[in-house]
Amino acid sequence: MSDIKEEEITYTNNISVDAYNGLRKSVGWIQLARKRAAIALGNSFYLCVAMSGEEPVGMARIVSDGGYTYFITDVIVKPGYQGKHVGMELISRAMDYIQKDVMEGETVMISLMSAFERESFYKQFGFHQRPFGNHGSGMSVWVSRDSQGNVTKY
Ligand SMILES: CC(C)(COP(=O)(O)OP(=O)(O)OC[C@H]1O[C@@H](n2cnc3c(N)ncnc32)[C@H](O)[C@@H]1OP(=O)(O)O)[C@@H](O)C(=O)NCCC(=O)NCCS
Repeated sequence: MSDIKEEEITYTNNISVDAYNGLRKSVGWIQLARKRAAIALGNSFYLCVAMSGEEPVGMARIVSDGGYTYFITDVIVKPGYQGKHVGMELISRAMDYIQKDVMEGETVMISLMSAFERESFYKQFGFHQRPFGNHGSGMSVWVSRDSQGNVTKY
């Protein structure tokens, strides 16, 4: 583990495609095609990147219609920087960014897909683990096209 201090982490709103894929790789996530990664980053409603000096060590994104529905995604803290409240700061900043625009009498929906056994991390911010009340389970599917052109869902 790195022995960095929390105060050495700064936060910015930019990340390169390579650094984005680098953060994904650091936690064992799939690599995105460069063009697709650039589109994803460019269409972020909000992007927060944790920096240790010049090195991106964490990130979180919001994708949204900007009116009602907000989806938090790509929440990553690089191993070695985990457990130092970087993830908590990233989510706090993302939540604040949404909450500051919610006026009296308004309601919005913030959702996310928790990674396996990360639910308690998000519960700290008020997220409910579904199924909850009259809400069913969250649902997702991966869609891939292989080199023969076949689409698979898994
Ligand atoms: C999940 C992740 C983002 C958390 O970031 P982090 O910087 O390590 O977490 P923090 O240090 O901010 O943790 C804040 C609090 O949440 C708790 N916490 C952290 N990870 C947790 C987990 N997996 N389950 C439950 N609680 C967790 C911490 O104990 C800490 O509690 P404390 O304030 O009482 O000390 C990070 O571990 C990560 O990137 N993991 C790999 C990628 C991943 O799974 N991302 C989530 C995708 S949905």
